Amino acid sequence: MKVISKKLSQSNIQTLVVFASKDETAKKASAGKLTAPIQKLLDQANKEQTFSGDKKETLMFRNAGTEDVENILFVGLGASKKLTAENLRVAAAVAYHACKSNKTSSAGILVDSFARAIKDSATAVLAVTEGLLLAAYEYADLKTQSKDDKTKSGLDAIVLLGDLNASQQKALKRGEILAECQNFSRRLGDSPGNYMNPTILANETVKAAKGTGLKVTVWDKARIKKERFGGLLAVAAGSDQEPRFIIMEYKGAAASKKPICFVGKGVTFDSGGISIKPGPGMEEMKYDMCGAAAVIGTMLAIARLKLKVNVIGLVPSTENLPGPSATKPGDVFFARNGKSVEVFNTDAEGRLILSDALSYGSEKKPAMMVDAATLTGAIMIALGNTHTGVFTRDEKLTKRIQTAADASGELVWFMPLTDDHVADMKGTHADLCNISGSRLAGSATAAAFLEQFVDKDIPWAHFDIAGTAWNVHNRIPYAPRKGASGVMVRTFVELAENHG
Ligand code: BES
Ligand code: ZN
Ligand code: ZN
Repeated sequence: MKVISKKLSQSNIQTLVVFASKDETAKKASAGKLTAPIQKLLDQANKEQTFSGDKKETLMFRNAGTEDVENILFVGLGASKKLTAENLRVAAAVAYHACKSNKTSSAGILVDSFARAIKDSATAVLAVTEGLLLAAYEYADLKTQSKDDKTKSGLDAIVLLGDLNASQQKALKRGEILAECQNFSRRLGDSPGNYMNPTILANETVKAAKGTGLKVTVWDKARIKKERFGGLLAVAAGSDQEPRFIIMEYKGAAASKKPICFVGKGVTFDSGGISIKPGPGMEEMKYDMCGAAAVIGTMLAIARLKLKVNVIGLVPSTENLPGPSATKPGDVFFARNGKSVEVFNTDAEGRLILSDALSYGSEKKPAMMVDAATLTGAIMIALGNTHTGVFTRDEKLTKRIQTAADASGELVWFMPLTDDHVADMKGTHADLCNISGSRLAGSATAAAFLEQFVDKDIPWAHFDIAGTAWNVHNRIPYAPRKGASGVMVRTFVELAENHG
């Protein structure tokens, strides 16, 4: 589906979508912004108590007999004073789903009904565009129903109706890029393990990067060995599939400018290895590469938006399986930075592959380094699927991350990371152990382990997205009912853009 803009007079659509806040709906007289016939319908609905303008509320007038359209769909925004860009993103998704369930063949949204709703009308256009395109995402690649059938039941485009000024047009384009890259990230996550192994992930990245200005280099197993990525090799040992290390480079600023570095966990299936996971729910572990997907989506968006920054994206990718050569509990390996690690639990594998990637990232001396990983079940217990847990000891970076998350509408929560957590990760017969002696604060001890592979002078943050990377529809109407959410693409792009 596409989002396009047209002047109201040029429209030829079946359903006109009108966003209305609670106060507008409650007003008896016209608010002066909506045309008189639309306001009349709104007043009527208010009188009949069929629509009050509450968040996520919808009301469809069929054969509305006004504005040269067949139907008018009202979508509630809640109280106008409290309105945020995220509310608009949600309202746009609600509008999309209502159009679809009403079998609307063409729809347009009255820009006037939302652009004035928040201070910055370009941000409003951005949020609505994102909400529509994100809501329209569907992973149907492996369903045998023909592509034709699929498009017949859906909408090819939703039109933003109004005279868009230059900054609003720019916002539409930006929203389109961000949503497409987030949807790309979702597609990687939703693809099952047999259609998304490390080799396929690398190939898909190379393919998607074509023509964007993003340079992609892929290391095979031999190169990974040569580069002494002991952690990645230790995890890959149990699988027939070769590991891959994906390096994405984008140069948007002078070569003298330090890059920023994103690192993503790319475990394409996590069975737990020899410390095998219980059967029920194990299928969810195809999502264990959502950190990688977030980084790949972010890099594609940064390149397509032509941001004026230098950025490196790193993805260590492997399966975690209990094959005959698999790493065994108690085994010790040496990571890229020379530290020895004993593997007491082969299911704590994300931190092992990230150890090498973070060491390698540190060697590039980035101005900041950020990683994303579906790292621990413990973060789901702590934060559920609402907030991504963020671990950092850098105050400046904390502020930047909060600003970026506020702008993107994604929720983050800062978690503790202290020397006590680091002490928990000391090894018995090696420098480090991959699990802590106790089960307490499992997400913080995992973060403390990662910290051992980041140079002290590099501002670094770790994002544990295990709770927010999938099945978040109960909270986010623009996310799929089941499956990958594509979380952190928008926040990471903001972070890159506002860096320095
Ligand atoms: N990929 C999992 C974390 C995970 C669990 C993500 C559930 C999403 C849902 C990770 O590799 C893992 O298995 N972590 C272990 C660590 C433990 C062995 C210290 C965990 O969280 O149980
Ligand atoms: Zn695991
Ligand atoms: Zn894992």
